[in-house]
Amino acid sequence: MASLEVTRDVGLTFALLLLLGTHIVRAEIIDAEQTDSFCYPESMKNSRRSCECTNVSASPWGASALRIDCSYKDYRVKDLSPVLPLYTDMLDLSWNNLDAVPIFNSITLRQLNLRHNNISQLTAGNFKELITLKELYLGWNSIVQVEVSSFEGLPHLQVLDLAHNNLHTLPSQLLAPLLVLSTLDLSWNRRFNASGVDLYSGLGLNWKLATLRLDACSLSELHLPVNAPLKELSLRRNQLKRIPNQLPETLLRLDISDNLLEELLPEDTVNLTQVRQLFIEDMPLLQSVVAHALDFDLLETLSFQNSRQLSHLDAEAFGPTTRTSKKRALRSLSFRGTMLRTFNSTLAPLFTQLAELDLNGLPLQCDCELVWLKQLPVQTKGRCYKPARIRGMLVTSARGDAFSCDTWPRWAYGLVVLTLIALSAVGIYLIVMGLRPHRGVTMRRKVGAGSPYARVTIEPNRQENPH
Ligand SMILES: *[C@@H]1O[C@H](CO)[C@@H](O)[C@H](O)[C@H]1NC(C)=O
Ligand SMILES: *[C@@H]1O[C@H](CO)[C@@H](O)[C@H](O)[C@H]1NC(C)=O
Ligand SMILES: *[C@@H]1O[C@H](CO)[C@@H](O)[C@H](O)[C@H]1NC(C)=O
Ligand SMILES: *[C@@H]1O[C@H](CO)[C@@H](O)[C@H](O)[C@H]1NC(C)=O
Ligand SMILES: *[C@@H]1O[C@H](CO)[C@@H](O)[C@H](O)[C@H]1NC(C)=O
Repeated sequence: MASLEVTRDVGLTFALLLLLGTHIVRAEIIDAEQTDSFCYPESMKNSRRSCECTNVSASPWGASALRIDCSYKDYRVKDLSPVLPLYTDMLDLSWNNLDAVPIFNSITLRQLNLRHNNISQLTAGNFKELITLKELYLGWNSIVQVEVSSFEGLPHLQVLDLAHNNLHTLPSQLLAPLLVLSTLDLSWNRRFNASGVDLYSGLGLNWKLATLRLDACSLSELHLPVNAPLKELSLRRNQLKRIPNQLPETLLRLDISDNLLEELLPEDTVNLTQVRQLFIEDMPLLQSVVAHALDFDLLETLSFQNSRQLSHLDAEAFGPTTRTSKKRALRSLSFRGTMLRTFNSTLAPLFTQLAELDLNGLPLQCDCELVWLKQLPVQTKGRCYKPARIRGMLVTSARGDAFSCDTWPRWAYGLVVLTLIALSAVGIYLIVMGLRPHRGVTMRRKVGAGSPYARVTIEPNRQENPH
């Protein structure tokens, strides 16, 4: 019974392989011609302007997929054949001279890269013959205008990159055809006006979007639906004075670097209950982190790197001292390049459980308040800035007794030493004076016949020569 089943299975697999085999062979013949005409067109034979085409096996059963790299070729739209070779999987047309979107036709293309061209507008139906497209990169162009139906016919698109363009306003419901969009990048559209549009309902943005990037879009405020299941949000280099209070509750990663916050307050972070990674880097104005501003249980990574004005971290920034000793998820913490001089010892339990703590470049005040930092199990690269006699030494290699809390200024030591020298000089003088013999007594008188200093005459020994 069992052996019968095995035989049947083997037979089935065999038939399947045979079928696949003939399919591949037939496809290869058609493929070869089309590939040649796209990759090595007659007009560009043996020139540096032909594309590079490579076969890759994209699936476990070995059906080949074609990757076409036409980057850096000075192509204009008229140079390109609209029909892509069969099984084309990726097409890279970055760094060319395209001033419009080339219209292509393919039923296999998965990724299209049009970055670094000179495309200034997107027109209706640009991409509608690319039904299988999953990733579309249009960054680093000069797109100003976008027609309403530009993205129609892309039901499988997951990644859309429109960064580094000149977008100002976008037509309403522009993104509605993108039913499964998961990543949207609108960064570096410096005149982008987000106050007029509600990104989700206004643009018809897929509700299940996971990643949204809005770096350098001149945002001074932002409202996103609290119950949208967004996971990653990047708001670097905007003009925000507070962390927006209406953000999706599900956020796992938030980058709020290079904004205009001066203080980090508890109300900035109170609604970020799920965040695992938080980046507060390159802040030009941030000076202090007040008590309870970082009281997260789930946070794993936190970075204040290069926030050059940051000089105060409250002892209770991570929550009440009674709670800091509790086990936290925090593993990586960076204060690299900030102006923090010291850390309250109540932070010791939290710092001890970190796998990574970066204190590179801090002007650390190595005194008795900070001596606990020597005991941390991780290498922090922190160096002492004060006191001057151990300046530049790693906190870990400086001697523990150098971490003292003297309240005396340096000149006081000098004074003490000078006083001691003066006192001992006086002492020596007095002793010398006390031992000096009285005046009028001459030494010679004392040297009489009985004195050990008396003159001795050595005479020859008579006993040695008896007569
Ligand atoms: C890809 O592989 C097929 C056979 O597997 C071959 O006929 C075709 O010329 C190859 N194309 C390129 C561009 O190497
Ligand atoms: C880019 O396109 C604009 C018109 O849209 C044109 O004025 C400009 O010269 C083009 N730049 C290059 C480098 O081709
Ligand atoms: C942004 O759009 C809103 C409404 O569409 C408009 O009132 C506002 O003036 C625009 N802002 C800028 C800077 O263009
Ligand atoms: C937190 O989010 C709620 C909405 O869920 C909002 O009403 C509240 O103002 C937010 N809190 C702060 C401090 O921003
Ligand atoms: C450290 O923090 C505790 C609790 O907030 C506070 O009482 C103490 O004065 C702080 N120590 C220093 C040196 O600031």
